[in-house]
Amino acid sequence: MQSPEKDLPRHVAIIMDGNGRWAKRRGLPRIEGHRRGADSVRDITRASREIGLQALTLYAFSSQNWDRPVEEVRLLMALLRDYLVDERAEILDNNIRLTSIGEVSRLPDFVREPLDELKAASAGNTGMTLTLALSYGGREAIIDATKRLIERVQTGEIRIQDVNALSFGEALSTNGLPPLDLVIRTSGEQRLSNFLLWEVAYAELHFTDTLWPDFRRAELFEALATYQGRERRFGLTSEQIRLIASK
Ligand code: FPP
Repeated sequence: MQSPEKDLPRHVAIIMDGNGRWAKRRGLPRIEGHRRGADSVRDITRASREIGLQALTLYAFSSQNWDRPVEEVRLLMALLRDYLVDERAEILDNNIRLTSIGEVSRLPDFVREPLDELKAASAGNTGMTLTLALSYGGREAIIDATKRLIERVQTGEIRIQDVNALSFGEALSTNGLPPLDLVIRTSGEQRLSNFLLWEVAYAELHFTDTLWPDFRRAELFEALATYQGRERRFGLTSEQIRLIASK
């Protein structure tokens, strides 16, 4: 299938689910599913850059994932570090800007240090923004933004009546990313699991049964084709949308 060019979403976010089940079906330890999942991360990032997405956001570790068995958390952290070290050249060579959302101060130093270093080294890149959601929760992010806005009201920088969807969006850690157009979740689950709760307001949702380790560029292109077939109305009527498009 050809990679689609018309009406490409600017910002795609992915809930990468099903690593554990992929491994279990093969009688392998869960970490093998995560390892293969990291290969999907590489392939999807490369394909997204090649077709010209502006932003790709990946749910790599949620605030709630800290409660997984200690050994799985340890292995996931090691995998993240390996990824950051191994992909450094690929990210820089391809003009990709790496950012993160989430409580990265909770990450162990051996992950946070290469993460901070690569974020700084790639800060000037303009090709595509790859955001890793790490120790991330959508509710937590909304609470943080709320606290930031309250502080700005308390210091007199803004007034209460200045709190609106625009200023709230600017207080979120996703500020600066293009609006979220498409959320993909793999593995057959149909829920958001605390991911980008504010940003998802007008995003299209795509659910696939494919497990994340099997989700490669062909599946991404399929999701993009589905997206292109949708009519996004943002609360307006079909007629209004057609009129705006014809102008
Ligand atoms: C969900 O599958 C996946 C995760 C909690 C971790 C995602 C991590 C990766 C894809 C690999 C490392 C990431 C990067 C950026 C290199 P699950 O374990 O919940 O699967 P299950 O529902 O089948 O048990």
